[in-house]
Amino acid sequence: MQRGWKGGTTARHTVGERQVRSVVAGVRGEVRFNAPLKEYTSFHIGGPADVLVEPADVEDVVHLATQAYERKLPIFVLGGTNVLIRDKGIRGVVVSLAKLRAIKEEPGSVLYAEGGVGMPTLIGHAIRRSLAGLEWAAGIPGSVAGCVVMNAGTKLGEMKDSVKAVRIVSLNGALLDCPKEAIGFEYRRAILPPGIVVGVWLQLKPGVRSEIEKVVKDYLHYRRDTQPLTLPSAGCVFKNPPNDSAGRVVDAAGLKGVSVGDAQISTKHANFIVNQGNASAADVLALIKKARAHIARKTGIKLELEVKVVGEV
Ligand code: EPU
Repeated sequence: MQRGWKGGTTARHTVGERQVRSVVAGVRGEVRFNAPLKEYTSFHIGGPADVLVEPADVEDVVHLATQAYERKLPIFVLGGTNVLIRDKGIRGVVVSLAKLRAIKEEPGSVLYAEGGVGMPTLIGHAIRRSLAGLEWAAGIPGSVAGCVVMNAGTKLGEMKDSVKAVRIVSLNGALLDCPKEAIGFEYRRAILPPGIVVGVWLQLKPGVRSEIEKVVKDYLHYRRDTQPLTLPSAGCVFKNPPNDSAGRVVDAAGLKGVSVGDAQISTKHANFIVNQGNASAADVLALIKKARAHIARKTGIKLELEVKVVGEV
């Protein structure tokens, strides 16, 4: 299915309609031109994508990547939960893996999840099969592929602890299975061969269902009690500084409740910026700048962004 084109041009980069149309030709999944990305992000913020593609399956991703490579058009993979998309949006092709949702069990307590599987769904599956090892990820809203790419983590653990291997569609459309040993995991970052993560093998272990469930539930309650989960946000804005919590630092600087436009530093957890209605990316970025400058002046701490800022100003 293909929906209406308005075109995308900026001073820095011009992407022609014909070029974009030729890249998505023959895609079997959903194709939407001039797609408002705010509809696809947990922040409810973001300008348009020239074209947003939801490939039907891995083969469709291969097809799209091959065509984009031949036409030298970059592909941006939309995670949707830990991202701030600027107000002018993203030129070229944006891919959402929302239709890649299969989960398969393999011998030795291994689960294979396609890239678009949400972490909550995956944890639910692991609980039903009494497989332990993903409890650390309770409450992370993102997709399994997004969690690999940014080595998502909580106090209980991180993606690095659970990954066995990753399936990637490389930039030129080749399928590549990459074992854990070949991935460089760092704090909130994974160094992977360039391409699109379309599947992840997770090494879990047999456990007791009621025990796994208890850890997950306790953790979900903790997050619900301490984080503003009912308002649109992109999760934690800043990385935690060594041996400290960015939330504590922002809070101690007296910044809870400070806002620019409809973007507000949450009154519940200071490392969240919430969208109180119609916040723009510019509002959020101005608020981040203000908070960082204030904190650097007051404490000397230079907070680093955890949220990925992408798109055109
Ligand atoms: N704190 C404050 N004020 C606040 C927020 C926190 O004083 O406004 C204090 C708390 O009282 C606590 C300490 O800071 O003593 C740590 O707070 P919390 O337990 O909420 O953990 P965090 O370090 O702020 C990390 C992750 C979260 C994850 C939680 C729970 C990062 C940057 N943050 O937060 O992840 O949900 O632990 O495991 O790693 C995310 O990645 O998007 C995210 C929200």
